[in-house]
Amino acid sequence: MNTIIFGLPGNERLMDQLAETIGATRGELSMRQFPDGESYVRVVSEVKGMEAIVVCTLHLPDGKLLPLLYLCRVLKDLGAVSVRLVAPYLSYMRQDTVFKPGEALTSAYFARLLSSFCDRLTTIDPHLHRRSSLAEIYSVPCTVLHAAPLISAWIKANVKDPVLIGPDSESEQWVSVVAKDADAPFTVLQKTRLGDADVRVSVPEVERYMDRTPVLVDDIISTARTMIEAVGHLKRLGLKAPICVGTHGVFAGSAYEDLVGAGAGQVVTCNTIPHPSNGIDVGELISRTLIKDQQP
Ligand code: R5P
Repeated sequence: MNTIIFGLPGNERLMDQLAETIGATRGELSMRQFPDGESYVRVVSEVKGMEAIVVCTLHLPDGKLLPLLYLCRVLKDLGAVSVRLVAPYLSYMRQDTVFKPGEALTSAYFARLLSSFCDRLTTIDPHLHRRSSLAEIYSVPCTVLHAAPLISAWIKANVKDPVLIGPDSESEQWVSVVAKDADAPFTVLQKTRLGDADVRVSVPEVERYMDRTPVLVDDIISTARTMIEAVGHLKRLGLKAPICVGTHGVFAGSAYEDLVGAGAGQVVTCNTIPHPSNGIDVGELISRTLIKDQQP
């Protein structure tokens, strides 16, 4: 069956890369906002009888959701056999419990909404903390890819004598895997979050790694407060300027500039969210799974 691929605005580079490697037709779209702020979506290409792939990474999700929903719905109305959403970064995953009575459990609501308009979801390292699988909240089949081997390869190729450091206990699950493949030691710091942008990091045992290059590894860099606290802590201990590696560089507001200003030696992210810090390419990883699923 023929495959046609569409990219929402901002996703063109990854869409082009995927179209090229999986041999899919590039779909033509017209999307804009009316003067009153409502969304206009038009599919120009013929999609009848085709499998459609929609590429839309989901940082800053609120403004993307309605255009995405309209696109997926119109593709089905126009006769696409299936619509697969490729969202390298999946948002709302951190709202995975009710912290205070009355709070919306937005990870579950978001999952229900996405599951209502796409037939399948492919993503990279969703933040699974209190949940073990996307299947707990998504009702469509989900393919979860992992950036750890790519991050390990980047560290191996670019950092001499690294010590990998997870900025909090949650990060241990991926730091340990990245460290193993990078043939490097690792440790994990203890973190207390006092507010949205108030994070304290404490008591690592990194003194024995003084001669190594610290590489902080986390799945998401959002406000960057977690990384900034960790960078400050390592610097106070007299370690070299740490390299900060994030799978998903959300960089809310001035987070990137704040992190660089705090003394990070280098900031490197995967291109799950387009950003100047992108140094690790996930295109091939996604292509491989799309090609595998195309095979009869
Ligand atoms: C924790 O839940 C995540 O793994 C990251 O540590 C966290 O999302 C980073 O957030 P921020 O950059 O806002 O400190």
